[in-house]
Amino acid sequence: MEAVAVRLGTDAYSEASGPDSCVAETICRRCMDYPLTALHSFNRHFASRPLTTSELTLFLASMAAFNQHTIAGIAILAGRLSDELLPYDPVHGHEVGAYVLDAAVDEYGLRESRDHLELARIFAAHLGVPPAAVAERRNACVSATALGDALLGWYRSGTTAFSLGVHTASEVTSVAEFMSWHDIFLTFPEYRMSRDLPEFEYMRAHYIHEPTHIHHARICVAKYLDALPANGTLVREGAESYLALYQRMFHELDTLIFK
Ligand SMILES: [Fe+2]
Ligand SMILES: [Fe+2]
Repeated sequence: MEAVAVRLGTDAYSEASGPDSCVAETICRRCMDYPLTALHSFNRHFASRPLTTSELTLFLASMAAFNQHTIAGIAILAGRLSDELLPYDPVHGHEVGAYVLDAAVDEYGLRESRDHLELARIFAAHLGVPPAAVAERRNACVSATALGDALLGWYRSGTTAFSLGVHTASEVTSVAEFMSWHDIFLTFPEYRMSRDLPEFEYMRAHYIHEPTHIHHARICVAKYLDALPANGTLVREGAESYLALYQRMFHELDTLIFK
């Protein structure tokens, strides 16, 4: 492992406010300000009318294909972060990865709600799309399966810094998705949703928890770069790579469903 400048210690964990938290803030701000024109266009159209069952199948299967490897990937990323940092700081090195893992505890159903994959299946079934149709890769758009396949590798191989950038961008885009979709699915009576309906828990849980995930991802990046400041470029490259494929996926979905 290359010996890079390490400034990890108790203070670094108490408050992510060192010089490299500025770099982290720039990266997170770039993710939040990234022009997600395709997602915004998709969301505008999505809010204009209810989707048919076949359109919902395409949408839900695409989301499933795109997210297929993310939940397991988050746990793997947390471990990789610890492995990378512990040699530099055996006392506190594990805490950085824990921020990633804490943001994902909701995904595994260990806090408040059930496993998100189960919530997604219940949500889809209520909309008339059976689990097998959601899980069928051929029902997803091509760029959603491409992004899902890329995420499989991004979380597991390559540099940890790049993976952290991918993950951070993923958390940021999740908020942009669920804040809109939560309201859209409540708008149209054809979806037969209401805020307190058990079948709506999938939207409700993300609507509540995703903003916290961004906060934790931001802290994680700041603490990581405080330890390994030379890796800022790799974190940024990971975020940009994710955002480019994400943009392509929503452009394809927007075109297939609405144009
Ligand atoms: Fe989730
Ligand atoms: Fe999240």
